[in-house]
Amino acid sequence: MNKKEKKMAWTRWEFPLFLMLGTMLLTQVSTASDTLTQSQELSLNQTLVSAGKIFEMGFFNPSRSSRIYLGMWYKNIPGQRIVWVANRENPLPASDSATFLKIGGDGNLRIVDGNQNTVWSTNVSVVSNKTIGVLTDKGELILKDSVSGTSLWNSFDYPCDILLSGMNVGYNTRAGVKLVLSSWQAEDDPSPGKFIAGLSVEMPPQGFIWTNHLRPFYRGGPWVGGNFIGIPDGSEGSPNTVNVIVNKQQESAFLRLNTSDDPYVTIVVLNPSGLLQMMVWDEELNAWIDSWKVPENPCDFYGICGPYSVCDKNKSPVCDCLRGFVPKSTDEWIRRNWTGGCMRQTKLLCEISTSDVAPKVSKNDKFLQLSNMKLPDHFIYLNDQNGAQNCENWCLNNCSCTAYAYPDGINCTVWTSELMDVQHFPYDGVDLFLRLAYSELGGKQIKEVNYSPDFKIVSPI
Ligand SMILES: *[C@@H]1O[C@H](CO)[C@@H](O)[C@H](O)[C@H]1NC(C)=O
Ligand SMILES: *[C@@H]1O[C@H](CO)[C@@H](O)[C@H](O)[C@H]1NC(C)=O
Ligand SMILES: *[C@@H]1O[C@H](CO)[C@@H](O)[C@H](O)[C@H]1NC(C)=O
Ligand SMILES: *[C@@H]1O[C@H](CO)[C@@H](O)[C@H](O)[C@H]1NC(C)=O
Ligand SMILES: *[C@@H]1O[C@H](CO)[C@@H](O)[C@H](O)[C@H]1NC(C)=O
Ligand SMILES: *[C@@H]1O[C@H](CO)[C@@H](O)[C@H](O)[C@H]1NC(C)=O
Ligand SMILES: *[C@@H]1O[C@H](CO)[C@@H](O)[C@H](O)[C@H]1NC(C)=O
Repeated sequence: MNKKEKKMAWTRWEFPLFLMLGTMLLTQVSTASDTLTQSQELSLNQTLVSAGKIFEMGFFNPSRSSRIYLGMWYKNIPGQRIVWVANRENPLPASDSATFLKIGGDGNLRIVDGNQNTVWSTNVSVVSNKTIGVLTDKGELILKDSVSGTSLWNSFDYPCDILLSGMNVGYNTRAGVKLVLSSWQAEDDPSPGKFIAGLSVEMPPQGFIWTNHLRPFYRGGPWVGGNFIGIPDGSEGSPNTVNVIVNKQQESAFLRLNTSDDPYVTIVVLNPSGLLQMMVWDEELNAWIDSWKVPENPCDFYGICGPYSVCDKNKSPVCDCLRGFVPKSTDEWIRRNWTGGCMRQTKLLCEISTSDVAPKVSKNDKFLQLSNMKLPDHFIYLNDQNGAQNCENWCLNNCSCTAYAYPDGINCTVWTSELMDVQHFPYDGVDLFLRLAYSELGGKQIKEVNYSPDFKIVSPI
């Protein structure tokens, strides 16, 4: 018994006695095993149970709907929370009582309906003619070559709406692998719904929830080797229990739960309305507890304030233009339609052709330091280790550069396009240096600081 199984066993002992009895009775009447062999079929009334009795797999119909799915759930957690579904796109009618899971002639796991049609298959090329299906204590359904023990197919490579401990979401560009969570259509319909969640393909990767049309819905910001800097730390139940492994050579990044030393069952769920929740099973309360979730305030909705603006959940209204910017359409802004965003009030020096400007006023642009910020989207990451000053110089020397940041863990990051999805946090976040014309900051007019005491003026170059 490894460390983890010990922990899980201990967890089960914490269940109320009546639950233990219930579980034991069920175990006795069931002939459940963790393995499906070529000579067996799993019918509607049977289940596979992982060796340590952590996970159970079988047919279910969500909310007594008329559709049947093959799914997986925690055996000892009441409520049958489905953590994985095989045939989410091809349900079987509840009237079909002759449905079963078996290993087909081609060695693949397949779900066969009453008319012997295959509605779902692991569909890999199998050379061995001896394969078995195994349900593990981690919650994987594996198709294995029973002679060599090689895994041929693994349900962890086909995530649904739930991230279990041990599972990954992310990508490997070289290998053409992309793993995302995909929400259910509705609470009683496991078919792929409106939302997906995963990591963006860029360095450093950002955590995202997208709509199914790949429009950003929520952005967690870049991973800086320990956390996503767009997620304030210390916020209730912040997801410090995740880890992202980035491999620049392989162009890969994978996120997984870092809960191997944790006795509690933790899952991440992307629910049908796009809410991403980290949940922990609380044995005393006998309930799933939300430990963290997004979006949780108006500012979490991607780009709610449009470009060149900032969202602050503690302000009313939540949207404001960044300092030095004004609403693109005052009418819309007053009507609280912020999507059009803001535009620069005073041209940058580099934007003004030299003939237009008297040499005397041509003082160079400056940077305004904004603290506790969620950095904008669409950054350019300059893997520059020569300090913040160098980063600032790069930005100053490129007229399309509108801002830079130099956060610990990633260093020089610059923006040469619209500043999108900026948030001001009450705490945490990082410094964003916003490029403004000298006159926006120069002289004595600095006294009206337009919304936050955190705003500081950085000394002119
Ligand atoms: C399970 O269902 C199969 C086929 O419908 C039936 O033959 C078998 O007797 C059932 N087993 C139990 C334990 O109900
Ligand atoms: C199996 O995969 C092939 C190609 O990858 C595809 O054409 C076929 O429809 C799949 N079959 C099933 C049952 O999913
Ligand atoms: C498996 O393959 C071997 C060699 O190809 C063959 O001798 C054997 O009959 C096969 N067994 C089954 C169950 O198909
Ligand atoms: C994983 O969690 C452990 C303790 O729970 C912690 O010590 C460790 O730093 C975490 N690892 C990462 C990569 O976050
Ligand atoms: C909000 O403004 C955008 C353009 O800025 C416009 O396209 C949209 O129709 C407006 N929405 C509403 C509800 O007025
Ligand atoms: C400014 O940066 C952008 C984005 O990296 C680049 O395409 C452009 O060539 C740069 N311009 C100058 C003058 O360096
Ligand atoms: C950031 O810069 C520091 C030195 O200034 C360097 O030690 C560190 O490795 C850099 N980080 C990255 C991710 O490049």
